[in-house]
Amino acid sequence: MRKKIKETIALILTGVVCLFIFMNKNDTEDDTMSNSIDTYKMLRQQIHLPRSDIFQPLSSPCQQNMSAYKVTGFSTLPGHIQDFLLYRHCRNFPMLLDLPNKCGGPLNSADVFLLLVIKSSPENYERREVLRKTWAEERLHKGVWIRRVFIIGTTKTGFEKRRLNKLLKLENNENKDILQWDFKDSFFNLTLKQVLFLEWMDRWCPQARFLFNGDDDVFANTFNMIEYLQGQEGNNGSKHLFTGHLIQNVGPIRHSASKYFVPVQVQESKRYPPYCGGGGFVLSGFTARTIYKMSHSIILLPIDDVYMGMCLEKAGLKPTSHFGVRTAGLHVPAGNVDKFNPCFYREVLLVHRFLPHMIFVMWNEIQNPHLQCGKSNHTLQEILLTKERGV
Ligand SMILES: *[C@@H]1O[C@H](CO)[C@@H](O)[C@H](O)[C@H]1NC(C)=O
Ligand SMILES: *[C@@H]1O[C@H](CO)[C@@H](O)[C@H](O)[C@H]1NC(C)=O
Ligand SMILES: *[C@@H]1O[C@H](CO)[C@@H](O)[C@H](O)[C@H]1NC(C)=O
Ligand SMILES: *[C@@H]1O[C@H](CO)[C@@H](O)[C@H](O)[C@H]1NC(C)=O
Repeated sequence: MRKKIKETIALILTGVVCLFIFMNKNDTEDDTMSNSIDTYKMLRQQIHLPRSDIFQPLSSPCQQNMSAYKVTGFSTLPGHIQDFLLYRHCRNFPMLLDLPNKCGGPLNSADVFLLLVIKSSPENYERREVLRKTWAEERLHKGVWIRRVFIIGTTKTGFEKRRLNKLLKLENNENKDILQWDFKDSFFNLTLKQVLFLEWMDRWCPQARFLFNGDDDVFANTFNMIEYLQGQEGNNGSKHLFTGHLIQNVGPIRHSASKYFVPVQVQESKRYPPYCGGGGFVLSGFTARTIYKMSHSIILLPIDDVYMGMCLEKAGLKPTSHFGVRTAGLHVPAGNVDKFNPCFYREVLLVHRFLPHMIFVMWNEIQNPHLQCGKSNHTLQEILLTKERGV
């Protein structure tokens, strides 16, 4: 009699496992073995739950907005823009890698003076490694703490996606600096990435004083950044600050060949608010929290730095220009000037587009105590000012 019951239970369990494998089948064809073992383990842990829970998918993926298909000219839009319109409303994605203790918990998070928030993607392992050893190193400098997180989605599908995620998990075990969500890491999903980060910050690091938000291919002089932020009179992070490479009086690019193409179907207005180039900008904790609050009532726009500008505008706050932020790269005049003269980089906060090895070299050079930077070797400021005055 007992044996009969056991057999029946085993049979039901097998059926459930098979059903799960079937339900997950279009996820991937490979790795089925470990998949079924994981599923089995998971089922065993959940077997005490009501049946209805077991049969519910673990997290229901966000559904397409079918009305988007009816938007005028939808079928003529490039694929990534169609994709954007179909999933524009999706803001909740499960976290694959989390760091609840990055800032010592929400209550202690005021101890973090500068949180470096670096947009990366699964494949950019080499860049992350260089940044960890250079400007993004977590450290105590001039009595204040610098902390670092990389914000990442997922790329590829099926087996390849899982392999990359496994690698990221290993990387994170070692470095404890990756926040990863299960959404497609694409250019048009950068705003989503930013908003998900702000949500994370709201939960786990709400009191961080200042943030640097930027790409993983920039050279940031975090020593200068600390000096600049410590020099903010009367602002310990509790007041507004948002500064970088200020861009004004521009609007959406309507040429479909551009990476930044935003058709009227995505944004009707011809105007962008003032914003700072997304390669890198600095903001206070207060401003980050304000942007997050505003984001709840602003529909997602694909260009992430413009979206930040929209949130600021809605809050009645203005971004400002910082001379030392060069997201368009350094425009060093041709001729006998060395583009990589460390004297240039000693004075900036940030320069865009650096190859990993040059970040490494430059980071070491600017800290060289014997580096002599005088009038004779033209400071960055002189060169850029000359250039901007059109002399
Ligand atoms: C779905 O798309 C239509 C057309 O773009 C839009 O008007 C509507 O607000 C969208 N719905 C949601 C829930 O985002
Ligand atoms: C953004 O991510 C979601 C979730 O992975 C995906 O469905 C959507 O296609 C992505 N959007 C773009 C424009 O890549
Ligand atoms: C920051 O400055 C404000 C006044 O502007 C003050 O009320 C607050 O206590 C300060 N916070 C910290 C953590 O020092
Ligand atoms: C700057 O100029 C001085 C001489 O005026 C020279 O000795 C020094 O090497 C130069 N430094 C760099 C980094 O080019």
